Amino acid sequence: MAESRTTAKIFNYPRNAWYVAAWDYEVTRTPLARTIAGTPIALYRTQDGTPAALADACWHRLAPLSMGRVIGDDLQCPYHGIRYNSTGRCASMPAQETINPSATVPSYPVVDRYRYVWVWVGDPALADPALIPDMGQMTDPEWTGDGELIYADCNYQLVLDNLMDLTHEEFVHSSSIGQEELSESEFVTTHTDTTVTVERWMLGIDAPPFWLKNMRDKFPGFEGKVDRWQIIRFEAPSTIRIDVGVAKAGTGAREGDRSQGVNGYVMNTITPERDRTSHYFWSFQRNYCLDSQLITTQLRNGVHGVFGEDERMLKAQQAAIDANPDYEFYSLNIDTGGMWVRRILERMLEAEGLAPAVPPLRGSAQLVREVV
Ligand code: FES
Ligand SMILES: [Fe+2]
Repeated sequence: MAESRTTAKIFNYPRNAWYVAAWDYEVTRTPLARTIAGTPIALYRTQDGTPAALADACWHRLAPLSMGRVIGDDLQCPYHGIRYNSTGRCASMPAQETINPSATVPSYPVVDRYRYVWVWVGDPALADPALIPDMGQMTDPEWTGDGELIYADCNYQLVLDNLMDLTHEEFVHSSSIGQEELSESEFVTTHTDTTVTVERWMLGIDAPPFWLKNMRDKFPGFEGKVDRWQIIRFEAPSTIRIDVGVAKAGTGAREGDRSQGVNGYVMNTITPERDRTSHYFWSFQRNYCLDSQLITTQLRNGVHGVFGEDERMLKAQQAAIDANPDYEFYSLNIDTGGMWVRRILERMLEAEGLAPAVPPLRGSAQLVREVV
């Protein structure tokens, strides 16, 4: 098996990017504090429901604005009462008629989309909403589902690595979605300047427990072999949608007819908080039994259990990395997708002048292998 090594040290996160700051329902008329890519932010909604994102530190003495309250469309500092509008300009000062024109706090571009509130903490001139990653299955009426936010005690890249290589399911998730065919099957990795795709098909296999249950929700009493797929698609800097499912074996799912199967999309977007912590937003969307709240809840709870297994592994891995700061990771064929992700992130960091703290990947010749 081909091997190469890259440092275990974590590199920085791009700032010129849209990151999910919160689920839409988390941003209300009560301010929410959240640190996005190292930047503490206070989020709230104005009277017409528009989200606003201000730096979470008052111009006067840096009191956290997220501890304040929303009055009309303004956010009032909890300490001495300066009010800021949603662009960060001071709207009123205590005990003085004239407002010091320098009294402003940074405000950040913010967009409500796909049930999330996205913010851009980098250069605001570059914050084009068209750059928000595609998460269409979150709001498309042909799909339904729900998810959660995990506060992950690890660098965001460890979550990306985890999702770009699903052979870990065999070992980490053996009671739900794991099966040995995962690490035995071939996969194809392709990429563009901003995306990486890893596609794997397992034909004529037994469905693992999670998928057997879902098949029986749609096809009561189902027995027999299935064709299973996982199509992992990364979009820079940190969104990964995974098209997953199983269909009755030999009914043409691979060729495009998925009518005899069940299909889900695992929607993941990971926002770096700081170097060693991240906000991991996920949702499991499906396109069958759309009216069943029971299935929505069962799936969310099921995936919650599966991702709890990842959470424990990632936290333990981060602790081991911190204990071995100079160690260089080995990379196997299964890491090809993750290595392309790192390459794309390196390029983004270079473009921002944030030199990555890692040397170029060793053994990068293997990166040009499209088929592993
Ligand atoms: S710290 Fe905000 S008004 Fe004084
Ligand atoms: Fe996992």
